[in-house]
Amino acid sequence: MKATQLAFVLLMIGSGTAGAVAMPDQSQLQVSKATPTFTPPAESALPDNAFGQQVREGHALFVDTRRLMPEAVGNGMNCSNCHLDQGRLAFSAPLWGAYPMYPAYRKKNDKVNTFAERIQGCFEFSMNGTPPAADSPQMKALSVYAYWLSTQAPTGVEIAGRGYPEVAQPQGGYDFARGLQVYREHCALCHGDDGQGQQVAGEYVMPPLWGKDSYNWGAGMHRINTAASFIKHNMPLGKPGSLSDQQAWDVAAWINRHERPQDPRLVDGSVEKTRLKFHANDGVNLYGQHVDGVLVGQGTAP
Ligand code: HEC
Ligand code: HEC
Repeated sequence: MKATQLAFVLLMIGSGTAGAVAMPDQSQLQVSKATPTFTPPAESALPDNAFGQQVREGHALFVDTRRLMPEAVGNGMNCSNCHLDQGRLAFSAPLWGAYPMYPAYRKKNDKVNTFAERIQGCFEFSMNGTPPAADSPQMKALSVYAYWLSTQAPTGVEIAGRGYPEVAQPQGGYDFARGLQVYREHCALCHGDDGQGQQVAGEYVMPPLWGKDSYNWGAGMHRINTAASFIKHNMPLGKPGSLSDQQAWDVAAWINRHERPQDPRLVDGSVEKTRLKFHANDGVNLYGQHVDGVLVGQGTAP
């Protein structure tokens, strides 16, 4: 089956499994593409006092998460790998676009989430780890950092630049072979031929895109649509917006057909049950589907 046909079948399966009531996507933000005007404060503006100290700590945890919080991080990632320029960059889910929008209801866990709970979600899935407690010193520092970046932003009003604005699925869907081509030409130089990133002295200097040190099957980035949005606006690093929508979708599909750590919400040890419960209505994704006869979503050994 061609990828484009597969995408269609996925859509059909996706809409069928929830029964009569089609659930909306579980966690995706719908954000605007309006030109960002908000500017977070400069680091030089930080006061040299107890508050400034907390901001600096939060910043350090955000950019050096794996090294500073080994007990909470189960892969090779730092927060700033997906929230670029230290959580400051527009269209890269900047912290200043997020902080003023919480508490907020999230379909993903079906409750109103505080900002700390939202961050815990990224620890559990994107970092494949064990979230720190909401009242832990680390969570406090991360929240203080996000609060400071949001200085003078309005609360409860979405500001331009939040999230990764949607890149609509191209007419013909996506294609793995084309995705591999894009990958070789535009990504492999940094992320490696095998998607494993690059390490220097045991630390990643280029993050992995799949495998045991990548985001897990429960992470937002496992959705092809979310990865395509991130990629279109942020990759190749230094050349944002240079790929066509089609290229972004093709390479996102190529990345997200590869194995990564299991979804920690795994139901009864069954990929099929987990697909029905958590993935059938979660954007465009391959979890629990067969690609070239192989079941996707089996997870990697830790
Ligand atoms: C593998 C990529 C990845 C990593 C690593 C990652 N995140 Fe995220 N993060 C995402 C995605 C994807 C979203 C959802 C964006 C959307 O829904 O459009 C998100 C959303 C968020 C949001 C909410 C954004 C909003 O506007 O509501 C916050 C806050 C956040 N992440 C913080 C963190 C923190 C703190 C860390 C490190 C502990 C982290 N993230 C690590 C990918 C990642
Ligand atoms: C010049 C080097 C470079 C190139 C080329 C590049 N990336 Fe990246 N990529 C990075 C770096 C570095 C990060 C982490 C950013 C940070 O920490 O500031 C990243 C982050 C990512 C992430 C989120 C983090 C993760 O590991 O999951 C994805 C997904 C990604 N890149 C995909 C791509 C794709 C797809 C291409 C090709 C279209 C590409 N990159 C090309 C350097 C590069």
